[in-house]
Amino acid sequence: MVCAMKNTPLAFIGAGNMARSLIGGLIADGWDPACISVSDADPEQLDATRLLFSTQSAADNTAAAAAAEIVVLAVKPQVMHQVAAEIGATVRERRSLVISIAAGIRATDLQRWLGGDCALVRCMPNTPALVQSGATAMYATPGVSEDQKALAENIMRAVGLSLWVTDEGLMDAVTALSGSGPAYFFLVIEAMEEAGRDLGLDEKTARLLALQTAFGAAKMALESPDDPALLRQRVTSPGGTTERALAVLEDGGLRTLFRDALTAARDRSRELAEQFGAE
Ligand SMILES: NC(=O)c1ccc[n+]([C@@H]2O[C@H](COP(=O)([O-])OP(=O)(O)OC[C@H]3O[C@@H](n4cnc5c(N)ncnc54)[C@H](OP(=O)(O)O)[C@@H]3O)[C@@H](O)[C@H]2O)c1
Repeated sequence: MVCAMKNTPLAFIGAGNMARSLIGGLIADGWDPACISVSDADPEQLDATRLLFSTQSAADNTAAAAAAEIVVLAVKPQVMHQVAAEIGATVRERRSLVISIAAGIRATDLQRWLGGDCALVRCMPNTPALVQSGATAMYATPGVSEDQKALAENIMRAVGLSLWVTDEGLMDAVTALSGSGPAYFFLVIEAMEEAGRDLGLDEKTARLLALQTAFGAAKMALESPDDPALLRQRVTSPGGTTERALAVLEDGGLRTLFRDALTAARDRSRELAEQFGAE
């Protein structure tokens, strides 16, 4: 049986990559596709989503919002202002919960574009959401009730881990860590794969070993009560191979490099938010 929460009328504005991964996760989690309306500027995206998930296709963004208690804004940041202005009156009238997954759009700017105070949750997901292994940080504006927070959390949890931050300013740090983070790990995997090839492994072997090692290390760290530093120490025998390799990474300034990289990403996130918000 579908629980009441999973019958809450839900609208997705924008039916691109993130919306489709969220819809897929929600349906796998027992949400009723008949309660999900979707709108998109591209009719082909809309048809593809309906065929894939049996969701309801709305005639336009306002019609999608008018059918919903929760409206998920899943369009690119560049079109968010226009979309918010279109649906603002409808969500204010219905007192709907608005969930934005757009990178770099601040809650105050979005509220302004929606035309007033709405119950708004700002989320920062990341690309592994596409394979239900995302990490999402969420920030709720003061008008969001506890029930609405629970709903928002349930929606984002359908595609991975979700957690709350209480200070919206930290969303720039979240963007630097988990939003951009998958790319850092792809780079590390690439580098390990290249190094493995240089040491004589064939391409396929080097790739598979690098990928499975990254996956295994993350899974082990997630499932362990011990912190990653302790797990690292446990696999580092004195005088062994791991110790020798880690010394090269530490001496090469790996920690400083990551600190500088995340600071640069955080600063760029602030710049982009200023740029989008100036509209
Ligand atoms: N992908 C990620 O990893 C990721 C991670 C974190 C956050 N996000 C955020 O998630 C949001 C969606 O990203 P995405 O990768 O899913 O983008 P996407 O694949 O481009 O999907 C956006 C969809 O919205 C449609 N659209 C454009 N203008 C519209 C309008 N005025 N009304 C209704 N629909 C409209 C687009 O149609 P057209 O193609 O015709 O323009 C497209 O189908 C973005 O704000 C992004 O910042 C994404």
